[in-house]
Amino acid sequence: MCFSWLVFPCVLSGGGSTPSKHATPKTWVNMVNDFQNGALSTRLGIPYIDGIDVVHGHSAAYGATIFLHNSGLGVTRDPLLIKKIGAATALEVRANGIQYTFAPCIAVCRDPRWGRCYESYSEDPEIVRLMTEIISSLQGEITDDSEKGAPFVNGHKQKIAACAKHYVGDGETHLGENTGNTMISSKKMFGIHMPAYNDSVIKGVATIMTSYSSWNGVKMHANGKLVTGYLKNKLKFKGFVISDWQGIDSITDPPHANYTYSILAGINAGIDMVMVPLNYTEFIDGLTYLVKSKFIPMSRIDDAVRRILRVKFTMGLFENPLADYSMTKYLGCQVNFLRIALFKTVAYVCRYRHFNGCLFFNH
Ligand SMILES: *[C@@H]1O[C@H](CO)[C@@H](O)[C@H](O)[C@H]1NC(C)=O
Ligand SMILES: *[C@@H]1O[C@H](CO)[C@@H](O)[C@H](O)[C@H]1NC(C)=O
Ligand SMILES: *[C@@H]1O[C@H](CO)[C@@H](O)[C@H](O)[C@H]1NC(C)=O
Repeated sequence: MCFSWLVFPCVLSGGGSTPSKHATPKTWVNMVNDFQNGALSTRLGIPYIDGIDVVHGHSAAYGATIFLHNSGLGVTRDPLLIKKIGAATALEVRANGIQYTFAPCIAVCRDPRWGRCYESYSEDPEIVRLMTEIISSLQGEITDDSEKGAPFVNGHKQKIAACAKHYVGDGETHLGENTGNTMISSKKMFGIHMPAYNDSVIKGVATIMTSYSSWNGVKMHANGKLVTGYLKNKLKFKGFVISDWQGIDSITDPPHANYTYSILAGINAGIDMVMVPLNYTEFIDGLTYLVKSKFIPMSRIDDAVRRILRVKFTMGLFENPLADYSMTKYLGCQVNFLRIALFKTVAYVCRYRHFNGCLFFNH
């Protein structure tokens, strides 16, 4: 590893990527700790965060408990169940040495043609709001003395940082097109899609991911009004904003047509951490150029660094940077919750069917 961990503060495992086929928890922990030792041996010794998509249980890990997708859990309307699932999931992720999940998806799916509708708890914003309770069990229950909007991750070895996504309006794109354009009024945006973000911020969510989609033609990855103006200034969110996978690339059409512009627009909109899965030198070179030539103010970089460090401090990463092998026993031990969840979901679906003749969408 020869890159700077200040501009490279996080490593993500892409969807389905694992250290090896059928890797044991010990192999995962070895991988995470190898990266961590690399991070700790750099000049500043700032620990990195390891993030992975854990959207229905720790599904990339062999032997982990796989829970239902959010659409299946939403029908239970049971925040206590979702809390148990969150706690179980956090333990299984920690079993592999990982401290950060790109979940929950709090999309409000308003069009069943959207191919990712199953990631949404409901078309009803009130149910989605109820289900943000999962944040309190992935990260731990926020304490009364917490500062408004500050990230909160407790129980350092058993809890993980969460990520509310995809900010915002991903569930109501035109014709249900994935990553498309959400053409709705402010009233609908703030009445339907935004409330669950307010709830997530109040519960101390550590990070929020911007959506590939646009709102009335403006890409959310470049929407300074909503990312900085609303999320950071109005809702007082003090964790960090992360881009989606190659999300800034598609600020231009076609994607990556002008990467320098993508970096400029994304960072100035308020994105604090950028997911760069392929060519990280291109990103670092572009960002360095833009800062040196003052297209991006240093105050913006300071804000991003402060937010990322705040999340790392909150998580106890500086005190406990290395994963603990004693946690490996927790992988796959949460099947009881899966049984309960399955039973409840099936029971609710059957009842709902019986009365309404339909399942998830009430159109
Ligand atoms: C956020 O939620 C809190 C608590 O429910 C409420 O008092 C506040 O008005 C909400 N803020 C916005 C901007 O909706
Ligand atoms: C890329 O974007 C930058 C910043 O807006 C602009 O100055 C430059 O001319 C663009 N380059 C090309 C090739 O369009
Ligand atoms: C990464 O981007 C740089 C431009 O900054 C380019 O020179 C290089 O070829 C790219 N590498 C790959 C593997 O695409």
